[in-house]
Amino acid sequence: MQLQSLCFLGTLTILALVHVGTARDLRNVTEPKYPPICTTLKAGGKDDTKIIQNALDTCAKGKAVALSSGAYYSGPLTIPSGVSLVVDSGATLAAIPDPALYDRGTKTCGTIDDLGSGCKPIITINGATGSGIYGKGTINGRGDTKMIGSNITWWHLARNALAVHKQQNNPMLIYINNSVDITLYQITLINSPLFHVQSSLTYGFTVWGITINTVGSALNSDGVDPTGSYNVTIAHCNISTGDDNIAISSLHAHTQHISVINNYFGHGNAMAIGSGAIYGVSNVTVSGLTLNNVRYGLYIKSNTLNGGLVTNITYDNICIYNSPWPITLDTKYYRKTGNHTPEFRNIFFNNIRVLTNGTFIFHGVSKTVPVKVSMENVHVTKGSKMSISNAEIHGTWVEDASGSHCGSYGNN
Ligand SMILES: *[C@@H]1O[C@H](CO)[C@@H](O)[C@H](O)[C@H]1NC(C)=O
Ligand SMILES: *[C@@H]1O[C@H](CO)[C@@H](O)[C@H](O)[C@H]1NC(C)=O
Ligand SMILES: *[C@@H]1O[C@H](CO)[C@@H](O)[C@H](O)[C@H]1NC(C)=O
Ligand SMILES: *[C@@H]1O[C@H](CO)[C@@H](O)[C@H](O)[C@H]1NC(C)=O
Ligand SMILES: *[C@@H]1O[C@H](CO)[C@@H](O)[C@H](O)[C@H]1NC(C)=O
Ligand SMILES: *[C@@H]1O[C@H](CO)[C@@H](O)[C@H](O)[C@H]1NC(C)=O
Ligand SMILES: *[C@@H]1O[C@H](CO)[C@@H](O)[C@H](O)[C@H]1NC(C)=O
Ligand SMILES: *[C@@H]1O[C@H](CO)[C@@H](O)[C@H](O)[C@H]1NC(C)=O
Repeated sequence: MQLQSLCFLGTLTILALVHVGTARDLRNVTEPKYPPICTTLKAGGKDDTKIIQNALDTCAKGKAVALSSGAYYSGPLTIPSGVSLVVDSGATLAAIPDPALYDRGTKTCGTIDDLGSGCKPIITINGATGSGIYGKGTINGRGDTKMIGSNITWWHLARNALAVHKQQNNPMLIYINNSVDITLYQITLINSPLFHVQSSLTYGFTVWGITINTVGSALNSDGVDPTGSYNVTIAHCNISTGDDNIAISSLHAHTQHISVINNYFGHGNAMAIGSGAIYGVSNVTVSGLTLNNVRYGLYIKSNTLNGGLVTNITYDNICIYNSPWPITLDTKYYRKTGNHTPEFRNIFFNNIRVLTNGTFIFHGVSKTVPVKVSMENVHVTKGSKMSISNAEIHGTWVEDASGSHCGSYGNN
């Protein structure tokens, strides 16, 4: 397979070089700057929801409410358009684990059902322009804490739901919807009961220098999930979690112009695209990434239930170790079926180094719709396995990687 396609390598490489310019966030993104502060709050030590929400609601646009060092407790908060929240170094904003506070009115938050949509997020940014969350402090979703009125934690509820093939009703930590120019900078996010960050229908989203650190056993605790979003940059972040570290999808609208630059992932599921891809995902660059102990490594996953076109995806300068499946292109995710063809093409793997054995999977949906991949300077270990079906692979890999150092590859 790879021999017959070697002759195309030259042409493809030139195309990649010429076009690499627009397979990314089209904005020129630089390190964010803190907004000026409108009010600085002191920790109350009890339920601070009203005080924080009131400060946010009365803060002038372009400014931020700061939480000074100390422990804050809160239910759901909404950050208004143009306003930001700064969680200072030494400050922790912890979510109160009371399902009633997040309930959307169906009295299902904190229970298991078929929908899993019964809870409001802990922090919502909706219909906003120029809002953000900044600071060297921590926001703690407390997924590991027993829910009030229950003898189990949010995460335990998620495991119970999985066991009976249903959905947990848990709040996500930060939900950004229908917004423009949103920033997350330096903040540490831990223990989300569900996804840590989702951006939906958002144009211009910068996630810079944040840390996500949640245990590997926390189900559905994705790191950052852009969906239906354009012009997204995720840079200089350190993400360890129980599910996808990043998952780029198109659940309700097309997603394109995404840059994932110079990041480090500790444990987690994957640098993922999918599984929802019906509206298409295109023009994504993942560059300068170290994956240590990330199950599916570079992962594009979909199926005929919610497949679509995933194209113009470039992975460049990546170092992977301790990953059983370092590269996984799977068009039969969970074997769910429908009538939406998952088509993955123009997928470029450039300058990749995989230091430990694993199985590489390139599975297209059919002979007529193969996955189309190009490889240049891809190094894997001797003893790695390749599982290839319905795939067109231009270029090839070399089995010469060894040692335990990324060298000049990955997040340096
Ligand atoms: C996506 O990137 C490709 C090159 O990688 C470029 O040719 C194309 O114009 C871009 N598409 C859009 C919609 O910007
Ligand atoms: C980004 O910077 C480049 C080089 O300075 C410039 O040519 C381009 O117009 C800028 N793009 C935007 C969207 O500002
Ligand atoms: C993406 O950024 C470019 C450059 O700033 C801008 O021209 C374009 O309108 C943005 N796209 C969206 C959907 O906001
Ligand atoms: C929680 O309580 C229920 C009964 O209300 C019991 O069946 C279940 O085993 C308990 N779970 C734990 C983890 O204690
Ligand atoms: C997100 O924004 C869209 C567009 O305004 C709106 O239709 C949708 O209801 C919002 N979703 C949520 C969960 O708020
Ligand atoms: C990532 O963060 C963890 C703690 O959350 C820390 O132990 C580790 O050193 C960090 N790694 C990098 C490369 O920054
Ligand atoms: C993908 O890139 C090619 C050029 O390499 C371009 O012609 C095509 O429009 C791009 N597709 C999308 C969806 O941007
Ligand atoms: C990789 O696989 C080869 C062959 O199966 C084996 O000899 C070697 O010990 C393995 N290396 C690692 C790091 O697992």
